[in-house]
Amino acid sequence: MIKTIQTTPYTDQKMGTAGIRKKVKTVLQKNYLENFVQSLFDTIGGVQGKTFVLSGDGRYYNDIAIQKIIKMSAANGMKKLIIGQNGMLSTPASSHILLERHADGGLTLTASHNPGGENGDFGIKYATSNGGQCSSEISQKIYEKTKTIKEYKILSADDVDLSKLGTFWLEQMEIEVIDPIKDYLLMMEEIFDFEAIKKLFASGFEFVFDAMNAVTGPYGVKIFEEVLGAKKGSVHQAKPLPDFGGLHPDPNLVYAKHLVDLMYSDDAPDMAGANDGDGDRNMILGKKFFVSPSDSLAILTDNYKYIPAYKNGIKGVAKSAATSTAVCRVAEKLGIACYEVPTGWKNFCNLMDSNRITFCGEESFGTSSSHIREKDGIWAILFWLNIIAATGKSVEQITRDFWAKYGRTYYLRFDFDGIDLDVADKLMADLESNLKSFEGKTYNGCKVTKAHPFVYRDPVDQSETKNGLLVYFENGARICYRLSGTGTNGATLRVYIESYDKNDFDQDPLKALAELLKVAMILAEIEQRTGKNKPDLTT
Ligand code: G1P
Ligand code: ZN
Repeated sequence: MIKTIQTTPYTDQKMGTAGIRKKVKTVLQKNYLENFVQSLFDTIGGVQGKTFVLSGDGRYYNDIAIQKIIKMSAANGMKKLIIGQNGMLSTPASSHILLERHADGGLTLTASHNPGGENGDFGIKYATSNGGQCSSEISQKIYEKTKTIKEYKILSADDVDLSKLGTFWLEQMEIEVIDPIKDYLLMMEEIFDFEAIKKLFASGFEFVFDAMNAVTGPYGVKIFEEVLGAKKGSVHQAKPLPDFGGLHPDPNLVYAKHLVDLMYSDDAPDMAGANDGDGDRNMILGKKFFVSPSDSLAILTDNYKYIPAYKNGIKGVAKSAATSTAVCRVAEKLGIACYEVPTGWKNFCNLMDSNRITFCGEESFGTSSSHIREKDGIWAILFWLNIIAATGKSVEQITRDFWAKYGRTYYLRFDFDGIDLDVADKLMADLESNLKSFEGKTYNGCKVTKAHPFVYRDPVDQSETKNGLLVYFENGARICYRLSGTGTNGATLRVYIESYDKNDFDQDPLKALAELLKVAMILAEIEQRTGKNKPDLTT
């Protein structure tokens, strides 16, 4: 029986950089999830006769939320739902299924790399039929709707069993429960040289994949151990847990310290990779060696010819404005376009849909290609394995060869967390009005050449987005400021800093960027305004 439930709106259901993301206790409020989902359905002209991919990363509340959404979908006339077994699919796998099945949309229940569990975060990413997350215009319309919603529709029925593969019906709606790994694995086999990677593992190459107790554990076991022959046990923290075992499932030097410690110990394997909560981010480490994500994008691009799917040539590349300019130097050498877009993966999608780019990436440990419309953690790790298999070089050697060819871009991101929202907005507004006055001046020995807001005009739909403020210095150094769009606790000011060195590749990035960090703090008056005299997090 379909029930229409009266409800009262919430005023905080705005979507950020990657969907809606909230504290679990916020989402547990009465009708909170239902309001959002019904608003979304209403905004896109209903779901009557449509097919959606629906799954999540298995975090706390995934199981309950998915049942609610299944029943709401049926009550709203959805034709079919495609769901990963046990309600789980990684974000990249979900984007792939959406494209492969020509579905009308997709909902991924995740707060990505944010912690899970009862005290963690929950979220929903909404993808449109092109496999990528919806545009800011659509998210704005959904937000408007959430502020006036009065009722939602839900089927009164028992929970459905998502543990068995196959097709069944819930009233008029078809539900297909699929193997979450099978199609994704086939796609990876088409892109990479699996035979070469098998030989690499058979030769004794030691590898660790850390799934951070999140959704890609089973993918890792299947792909790296069972198919490619990595030693049993190569996949660490392989079982997805609702609270990610207490980890902050963000693969970087701070939150994956256990893996970094292993890689800098004498027992380090030859290579390690890690993924985040929903499997779209990646971190790459060699023996006692870390590859910065901005460098990783540039290195993959420079080595495209080793990968069967790309060996005949690649189109352009793209990076977010906050990402270092390392990949631009590669694009220049290859004679391909390099686009600079606002932060958030959806900004790459028009460029991929219009065949302008093949690879893209963000400094926040995200890299991918046009095989899907999301970043893809396992894809990036397979790419590195394929290069190693083809060249016989180590992670460190591949990176050093790259620096020797192009110079090294020292790069770090400094985050100032939990700032009062008004303080953060005012800081950015005042900084923006001061930008012009910095030009030509020297601060701590660093001379500003130009300073301006980053404004992006999408070459496809001509829409204009402003995202961050840029300050350029002599000798290729750069600072980018922006406010995070994914936080759930006040505002986070992100300060991205890079410098460029053609000869000296062995500095500690923190030291190489120390003066520029001081300058960044002075220009934005960070200490006066926030009381913080150093960043809370450096990645
Ligand atoms: C952060 C990252 C951004 C990424 C997003 C979703 O967004 O900086 O690159 O696309 O998470 O994973 P932010 O909090 O900076 O808005
Ligand atoms: Zn993620």
